[in-house]
Amino acid sequence: MNCINSTEKITPEAVAAELSACRAVKEDNLKRYKDDPPGFYIETFGCQQNEADSERLAGLCILMGYVPVDSIKDAKLVLFNTCAIREHAEKKALSIIGEMKHQKAADPELIIGIGGCMVSQDHRVEKIKRSNPYVSFTFDTGAIHRVPSLVLGARNREKRRFILSDNFGIAEGIPTYRKTPFKAWLSIMYGCNNFCSYCIVPYVRGRERSRTPEDILREARELIEGGARDITLLGQNVNSYGKDIGEMDIAALMREICKIDGDFRLRFMTSHPKDASDSLIAAMAEEEKIIPHFHLPVQSGSTRVLGAMNRRYTREKYLSIIEKLKAAVPDVSITSDIIVAFPGETEEEFSETLSLLEEVRYDMIFSFIYSPREGTPAAAMDCQIDRAVANDRYQRLLSLQDTITAERNARFEGRTLKVLCDDVSKTDSSMMTGRADTPRPIHFKGDSSMIGKFINVKITKSDLFSLMGEVVE
Ligand code: SAH
Ligand code: SF4
Ligand code: F3S
Repeated sequence: MNCINSTEKITPEAVAAELSACRAVKEDNLKRYKDDPPGFYIETFGCQQNEADSERLAGLCILMGYVPVDSIKDAKLVLFNTCAIREHAEKKALSIIGEMKHQKAADPELIIGIGGCMVSQDHRVEKIKRSNPYVSFTFDTGAIHRVPSLVLGARNREKRRFILSDNFGIAEGIPTYRKTPFKAWLSIMYGCNNFCSYCIVPYVRGRERSRTPEDILREARELIEGGARDITLLGQNVNSYGKDIGEMDIAALMREICKIDGDFRLRFMTSHPKDASDSLIAAMAEEEKIIPHFHLPVQSGSTRVLGAMNRRYTREKYLSIIEKLKAAVPDVSITSDIIVAFPGETEEEFSETLSLLEEVRYDMIFSFIYSPREGTPAAAMDCQIDRAVANDRYQRLLSLQDTITAERNARFEGRTLKVLCDDVSKTDSSMMTGRADTPRPIHFKGDSSMIGKFINVKITKSDLFSLMGEVVE
């Protein structure tokens, strides 16, 4: 497997060369398409890291003279940003990519590129090379900034290219295009060092590398000046921010961001329990701008399974962090990720996960049936769990959490929350949706003039998936 260890910086010269490739593509677009610029479409799978990477890809596409289009059929440049976390994620992407063969046959000028975690694995790249001849290029997660020269090469009908980086650095200075300026992802670090035994991420995203506080604070200031009201700091394990560069930790970084003038709030994802520090909990308790929501994936309630997962904490250690968190931030919302049917998980060990849910009382969980990933230690373990047993455990987990979620959501009834209005509801145009401190969406009557603004909403009703309320002064 392609396992990358370098944490070298990508040089400003390398980025400048790509920005110059952008200008070359733009000039050619102006010549070829005159007043009718060609469209680009990006299909994103997977987590927020991929969403953030796609915003940088979109920034590069715009610099190349492409314009965003709403339908893939109208695009002259299509990029897929893929995920490899579970088998289902890869299958879904491969099936949509397979469909592109018809569009390419109808439009030979169409350029199709595939990026992201799936094509950061040698075996997937080899397969695409052979089975998808209409794909112009692939680029792994370390090569986002190289897309302009790949597009230029494809337009000049050069050989197809398949990039597997040997240097996973940080490319600063890439433009970003965000559809909603009031809500922003802000990547503070990339990669992961943890090698949980089931997980593909360290193999496809390289080792942890932190951006400098200066680069992050500069971007945060720009975002806030540009109208950002809700900023999420992103990384696979933001709790270990700064360790690789000997810089301030996540708590100090967040406190610095909070000092920036402006009416905004701050979130962060994701946290690894082994690094969840007292200083981070204190920052959440003391800084008004930090949302009292902690996503702290536990994965399993059994200390034996946690050991086999290489998570490096016990059930007791995890519960002690939760206790500290609840004591310091009384109304905190806590969410988690859970894997059921990890190889060798017994019924008794699974019931420890259920009892942990009862004890912690999460606001919400993201739960997954274990999916073997080629090249990870867990995929080679004996005692893979039977599908029917896995499904049964999964259903029991969901049903218990539904009861807890309903109870947690109900605590907001009667309260007035400061909601950042996101959008018009997809099902009813007289309703708006937004988010407050709770991880659940909030629906209320309103109009599109509210989008991007903070609105006070009194919660009147709650269900499993959302809260409903009325606008108050
Ligand atoms: N860095 C984050 C999680 C990233 S992946 C963290 O450690 O918290 C998001 C979630 O996908 C994980 O928390 C885990 O619950 C799930 N996941 C990862 N690999 C998986 C696999 N092979 N099968 C099923 N779920 C998996
Ligand atoms: Fe995967 Fe573990 Fe890293 Fe999260 S911390 S990305 S689960 S290896
Ligand atoms: Fe998927 Fe890669 Fe994120 S594997 S979950 S897109 S880091």
